[in-house]
Amino acid sequence: MKEESLKRKDRIKTPEGRLGVLIPGIGGAVSTTFIAGVELVRRGLGEPVGSLTQLGTIRLGKRFEHRSPKIREFVPLASLDDLVFGGWDLYEANCYEAANYARVLKREHVEPIRDFLGGIVPMKAVFDRRFVRNLDGTHVKEGQDLRRHVDSLKEDIHRFKKENGLERCVMIWCGSTEIHLTPEAIHQSPDALQDAVESNHEKIAPSMLYALAALESGIPFINGAPNLTIDIPAMVELAKQMNVPIAGKDFKTGQTLMKTILAPGLKSRMLGLEGWYSTNILGNRDGLVLDDKDSFKTKEESKLSVLEYILQPHLYPTLYKNYYHKVTINYYPPRGDNKEGWDCIDIFGWLGYPMQIKLDFLCRDSILAAPLILDLVLLTDLAQRVGMSGIQEWLSFFFKSPMHKENLYPEHDIFIQLMKLKNTLRYLMGEEQITHFGLDYYMNGEAE
Ligand SMILES: NC(=O)c1ccc[n+]([C@@H]2O[C@H](COP(=O)([O-])OP(=O)(O)OC[C@H]3O[C@@H](n4cnc5c(N)ncnc54)[C@H](O)[C@@H]3O)[C@@H](O)[C@H]2O)c1
Repeated sequence: MKEESLKRKDRIKTPEGRLGVLIPGIGGAVSTTFIAGVELVRRGLGEPVGSLTQLGTIRLGKRFEHRSPKIREFVPLASLDDLVFGGWDLYEANCYEAANYARVLKREHVEPIRDFLGGIVPMKAVFDRRFVRNLDGTHVKEGQDLRRHVDSLKEDIHRFKKENGLERCVMIWCGSTEIHLTPEAIHQSPDALQDAVESNHEKIAPSMLYALAALESGIPFINGAPNLTIDIPAMVELAKQMNVPIAGKDFKTGQTLMKTILAPGLKSRMLGLEGWYSTNILGNRDGLVLDDKDSFKTKEESKLSVLEYILQPHLYPTLYKNYYHKVTINYYPPRGDNKEGWDCIDIFGWLGYPMQIKLDFLCRDSILAAPLILDLVLLTDLAQRVGMSGIQEWLSFFFKSPMHKENLYPEHDIFIQLMKLKNTLRYLMGEEQITHFGLDYYMNGEAE
């Protein structure tokens, strides 16, 4: 294992040149908060709080060795100075106007970089209102020919790379949540998917066309929304064929972040759960989109699955067999991007005695999502340079519904996800895995 990973380390291509970040939904709250944040950090006007790659460290070797480099010094990641942003939106506002519309960042953060943000202008989107009913922008490509749409997106990518002198690109979907789709025969193989695109099949969502354009261009694709998009055998297979990594789905922020922090703790102490009631009020454009029941269904599925996998009722029927789990999102414009998530958690302890936990998280959705985009872009670019292709399960840490191989269940526990991520980095760099075994420190008086 060590030899193999050492060889892998030698094969990692150094991140030379500039890295393009291609964003469908570039005019959104999350995208503009991310882009503005990176620029502010580059100018020394802000700190990348929440970013594992920028602030996180990784322990190497035994505890007495005291080796804990920063992750960005340990693995060869692209530098923030080398990131170049481009993307698509169905509203033609540039990123300065869009950031002001989103009202996530204060004037004191937007005005100093007004020229920079104003220079990022969205390309025309591939959009179909059947998939996002509550939006109606006009900055969209004409016609209904899906293959032509894919080719047009590929031309956009090609032009963007050329104009900016880019070596590499990563595409990350930060567009709206599309209506709920279930995988069908057309989603099962690359050929079936291509046929469906040629025949303009009604179950091909716009996000899938962006993903196809990326994969066919040899560019990794990350899905920040709960949309089906790449979570189908056809895309997984295509990514393998094109030797390109893919990752998803749905950024883990806010309420689900809290759930995957709390639930593993309750389970580790063998405390039972009777019910978990989660509700949110949210007033941004994402909230408006999720006000449509079919878009909400996509989100709801993503949010509900978390507890089931963490608590494993089939292994712990006494504690988790019949718990009631409910998630709602209410669109409430006055709250804007500052979501409020309430959780009422009914637990029980020794002899079944009931207890309650109430959690009120007054969070800022896009502030929580922005660092995840940065980390995902940098780590997926690393995966590409290492030669990893297909599903990147080690990036589960960042997602509400981590993609996983068929016949494996997803890992939702945030602490296991972090260990998985760090061990993957150690593996890539030829370092020993850290299992936290620890008994070896006490054997024969000293560690081996
Ligand atoms: N903020 C969070 O904490 C968080 C967490 C998880 C997932 N997400 C997801 O991230 C996405 C973005 O969230 P947001 O708050 O920025 O929403 P937003 O509504 O502010 O931005 C989405 C943008 O996507 C654009 N868009 C929609 N369809 C498009 C298409 N086909 N092509 C190009 N652009 C398109 C919209 O015009 C809009 O500007 C949503 O899907 C949301 O569910 C956000």
